[in-house]
Amino acid sequence: MKRVAVLTSGGDCSGMNATLRAVVRAGRASGLEIIGIQKGFQGIIDRLYETLTTRSVSNILQRGGTFLQSARCKEMRTEAGLNLASENLKDLGVEGLIVIGGDGSLKGAYAIHRQGIPVIGIPASIDNDIPFTDVSLGVDTALNNIIRAVDNLKDTASSHDRAFVVEIMGRNCGYLTVVATIAAGAEYSLIPEEPYDLEQICSDLRRRYQEGRSNSIIMVAEGAGKAEDIASQIKDRIGFETRVIVLGHYQRGGSPSVYDRLLGARFGQAAIENLMINNTGKMIGIQGSSIILTDLLTVTTAGIRPINPMFPRLANQLSV
Ligand code: F6P
Repeated sequence: MKRVAVLTSGGDCSGMNATLRAVVRAGRASGLEIIGIQKGFQGIIDRLYETLTTRSVSNILQRGGTFLQSARCKEMRTEAGLNLASENLKDLGVEGLIVIGGDGSLKGAYAIHRQGIPVIGIPASIDNDIPFTDVSLGVDTALNNIIRAVDNLKDTASSHDRAFVVEIMGRNCGYLTVVATIAAGAEYSLIPEEPYDLEQICSDLRRRYQEGRSNSIIMVAEGAGKAEDIASQIKDRIGFETRVIVLGHYQRGGSPSVYDRLLGARFGQAAIENLMINNTGKMIGIQGSSIILTDLLTVTTAGIRPINPMFPRLANQLSV
């Protein structure tokens, strides 16, 4: 194997640059030429390539986002788009492809693999909804972003006897919301995986207010409802004045945490190592402290990664 391509696809996350750096440097050390494809799968279709050297990835480790840029590519979902992408990769002499992205991107990765180009997937999404890995790239940094925001909200909330309804990203997965609830010491966590009773929440909040608590934080996963709707339903019923914040894309950016930098380094190096021995059609993951590989077919047909029920229980128990 001589020429390997790499791309970042779907929603960006912190740690993608760290992973690209590891792919390029581990690849060059193994004598490979590494081609960087810009703007995800769209860049294969539009032929947006550049050869990456060890210098191309200098000084990017600490940066959020992805220097190759990313995109959600609708064309890849069509047969014509997929065929064009595979032909372009073959024309370019690419003998292996590394795809860094979330669930949709891993589906694209598997489709390309089936067209005869050996592929390795790397799970990258703040949502932590990808199965067969304890954690995806970007999750730890996103959680740190969220708790920093909630810490700040608590300062202002407690100065005014206010409740904040905080909307957290995560698509259909409540992982970020429930883990951030525990880590930031918020009172409630509304997630798509668990039913919630707004009447009960209102009466608990009123009790907190009457006990003289100075603030309350209600975290809502985007898959469980809109913060604005929740706030309008609890407003005037809980004692606390209510404000809303949607953290949105703020959660995705920023310098990656040490955890995400290390994960990116390990994932990137493992991708090269497995491409070299033709152990492909797989996604790299982490289980405990070990790197594991799972068939892309299994990963992309398993549905979203379930939340460990210990997390909602703990969030509940600690928010008295
Ligand atoms: O999958 C990552 C994610 O940030 C989700 O949490 C969110 O629902 C979505 O992407 C937002 O997508 P976009 O960046 O296209 O607005």
